[in-house]
Amino acid sequence: MHILSIETSCDETAVAVTKNGRQVLSSEISSQVEMHRIYGGVVPELASRRHIQVITPLAEIALEKSGITRAGIDAVAVTYAPGLIGALLVGVNFAKSAALTLDVPLIPVHHIRGHIAANYIAYPELTPPFLALVVSGGHSLLVDVRGYTDMKIIGTTRDDAAGECFDKTARVLGLGYPGGPAIDALAKNGDEKKYALPVSKINDSPFDMSFSGLKTAVINLVHNSAQSGNPVDREGLAASICRAISDTLVPRAISACKSLGYSKICCSGGVAANSVIRRDLSTAAAENNLEIYLAPLSLCSDNAAMIGCQGYYEYLSGNRADSSLNAYATMPVDKLV
Ligand code: KG4
Ligand code: ZN
Repeated sequence: MHILSIETSCDETAVAVTKNGRQVLSSEISSQVEMHRIYGGVVPELASRRHIQVITPLAEIALEKSGITRAGIDAVAVTYAPGLIGALLVGVNFAKSAALTLDVPLIPVHHIRGHIAANYIAYPELTPPFLALVVSGGHSLLVDVRGYTDMKIIGTTRDDAAGECFDKTARVLGLGYPGGPAIDALAKNGDEKKYALPVSKINDSPFDMSFSGLKTAVINLVHNSAQSGNPVDREGLAASICRAISDTLVPRAISACKSLGYSKICCSGGVAANSVIRRDLSTAAAENNLEIYLAPLSLCSDNAAMIGCQGYYEYLSGNRADSSLNAYATMPVDKLV
């Protein structure tokens, strides 16, 4: 089964063609990062406008590279939630038109389910159940993946997402947007014990987390050091931020997996590219006799191949949209509209 998949939830326009879920025939990504960089973050209006400019030619390229003719496409899958509403609407409307023109089913895909499915592409032998740690610009989730389309959130952030924390602390350090990769790079030569930063603990909710206290602590630290004329140790601070975020995520993922009685942990989403989190997760999983599946860097950030892969499993479970499909800025991964 060949699926044409579309992803426009934030600042990447992406189109892919996948075969039987896990085989990627083409995957085209047009990143808008350079355009948004000068504003220090994604400007939603500009994101929508760029998606509308790029999506049709990108789909033509993805189709051509896949070697599949239009007549060979069996369904169209599209991210319809969560994300920037104007950005999502571009992809949803394009997908509706494509499905109508090709006379094939339209499959609605939740963006976070797509991030989880990135692991299926990377690890052909991987099957649910497992514990998924999904960490992106907008989400920090521990998900009990019972089946391909049967999942339950067991832990989430009470405020900011891990990616947001990386991006905001990077901004105060003058590292630009997106901040995660810049902090990761700066941290490489830093002393992670240099600054004692807060690691959240939520009473009675062992798997929930919070990153706003960490963000505020870093902002205050940088401002105080500027006022007192003591330059901040930037590399040490970057390393300490990575340490605090990893220390929030990794022990929770391990104990969540064990509490579910599972043997597998999958990690994906943009923040899953972080080298400290990857190393810590691998070490902790080995110490606890758990199997770890880290999405490769190419599949961590937003792409349409992961949407096509999840779309396949949504299709198998009977999930279809009609031409009235709408886009939603927020939606829990375990309660789809
Ligand atoms: O999944 P994603 O591409 O988009 C969303 O769905 O949000 O995630 C983007 C996030 C940004 O916050 C970015 O700073 C972060 O992923 N990120 C990283 C790294 N690479 C990307 N954070 C930490 N370390 C990295 N190496
Ligand atoms: Zn994402």
